[in-house]
Amino acid sequence: MSELSPYSFDLLARFLKKESGIVLKPEKSYSLRSKLQPLAREWGYDGLNDLVGHVYRERHNPEVVEAILNALTIKETSFFRDGRPFEVLQSHVIPAIAEERAGRELKLWSAACSTGQEAISLAINLREALPPERADQCMVVGTDVSQKAISRAKSAVYSELEMQRGLPPDIRRRYFEPVEGGYRPVPEIRSMIRYRTMNVLEADFPLSRFDLVLCRNVLIYFDEEGRRKAMDTVHQRLVAGGYLFTGAGEDAQRMDSRFERDRIDGVQCFRKGGEG
Ligand SMILES: C[S@@+](CC[C@H](N)C(=O)[O-])C[C@H]1O[C@@H](n2cnc3c(N)ncnc32)[C@H](O)[C@@H]1O
Repeated sequence: MSELSPYSFDLLARFLKKESGIVLKPEKSYSLRSKLQPLAREWGYDGLNDLVGHVYRERHNPEVVEAILNALTIKETSFFRDGRPFEVLQSHVIPAIAEERAGRELKLWSAACSTGQEAISLAINLREALPPERADQCMVVGTDVSQKAISRAKSAVYSELEMQRGLPPDIRRRYFEPVEGGYRPVPEIRSMIRYRTMNVLEADFPLSRFDLVLCRNVLIYFDEEGRRKAMDTVHQRLVAGGYLFTGAGEDAQRMDSRFERDRIDGVQCFRKGGEG
């Protein structure tokens, strides 16, 4: 199959940036081949340039948009990824916001949740940190730009391999049950989570504000403009004093100076100041 021409690369890069904010780097051009080949075959194209021509002509067709997003997004994730941030969420942040907002529903948002492990980790943190009747008043919203990732998250069935990544045995035993094809979170976890397909660069959902947002390991794929837009969405969607956790190396304060840097038990996070 032919290589991508610089012209096709440019068309594809513009398309992907417009739809998701993700920036394709020319030096990664070689890795596009293996990601796009299956799609080219499926759609009956001999070469990648022909495939990109089709994508350009059909750029307003939601199925084409989704197929490209699915092929080119990196959905790497795991339960309790990086460990420490989730420990701090459970031991400090969740108890603090539950106390501050006593009697009110808590809303947490996993803003690029991939196949759902991050949203499930948050729901487990809530169950572990709070009495059952308080955890029942909490909601986790998981969103991702990839429809395919969201439909997998909704199906909520995880393979043995996925279960082995990040889940302590005790948590696994108490919060998951075996089902055909793998394991699924128990109903008291699933009932706390709502998923929907959404681009973090466009805050278009009709929910009220969140007490806590996780926007982790996605900002690294954006350029400065994309990072600023994403931080603006998150800022708008947080309550005053609300918390933001990003991935290691994703510095929200540098992207948007309205965020205040905080450090809790050695873990960096950010807070929205002011009156909201
Ligand atoms: C590497 S995964 C990170 C998943 C999870 N946050 C974690 O840290 O494990 C990046 C995810 O960001 C999603 N993504 C990329 N651009 C996005 C956008 N503009 N809006 C929402 N999600 C996006 C991808 O589809 C992918 O599922």
